[in-house]
Amino acid sequence: MKNIVILISGRGSNMEAVVRAAESQKWPARIAAVISNKPEAGGLAFAAARGIPTAVVANKEFATRAEFDAKLQETIDGFAPDLVVLAGFMRILTAPFVEHYAGRMMNIHPSLLPLFPGLGTHQQAIDAGVTEHGATVHFVTAELDHGPAVLQARVPVLPGDTEETLSARVLVEEHKIYPRAVQLFVEGRLVIEDGAVRILEHADVSGALDTISS
Ligand code: GAR
Repeated sequence: MKNIVILISGRGSNMEAVVRAAESQKWPARIAAVISNKPEAGGLAFAAARGIPTAVVANKEFATRAEFDAKLQETIDGFAPDLVVLAGFMRILTAPFVEHYAGRMMNIHPSLLPLFPGLGTHQQAIDAGVTEHGATVHFVTAELDHGPAVLQARVPVLPGDTEETLSARVLVEEHKIYPRAVQLFVEGRLVIEDGAVRILEHADVSGALDTISS
């Protein structure tokens, strides 16, 4: 059984997609906790209603990023995670925090990285006049919105698209690729090699044994 801790800041629709997939596909994994940096995050209610432990570590209550990240790390580690899933978690993380979860923390970003890191990705895509946009699930490294990509989804940018119409089209795909990427991790099928992700056709032996023994 692998433990997954999901971090959110708001609505939590990607968290919801992962929770639903884990349940319906009966992954050998449990969502050990959903943690938010905002007490008002809408996704907390969904998690609590499903009996998932929730916690809030409010960044507003900490004077520095380092202090916030230290408390967040302590809270996450209390749930013994195999994987930390950033699902609309809108915080820049310190290097020691990222290093602590190297190879076991994923993020979803609403663009075809390396295009359009940062905020306002849908408007950036419209302004740049690209005909294709999308989302990327990647392992988190110290550089914001970088790190080895696991899966990408592509959507067309249509004439007349606004930030709203384009983000809605991308979000539908996010809800497909994020659960799939987490499932691949749970199955022990993701290997990071030379800064890139290789997806194994079958679970590696150590991952399989781990699943059998726990
Ligand atoms: C999602 O579109 C996610 O890709 C984006 O925030 C939204 C959160 O929605 N994340 C980022 O922009 C991270 N840089 P959700 O709370 O409904 O999952």
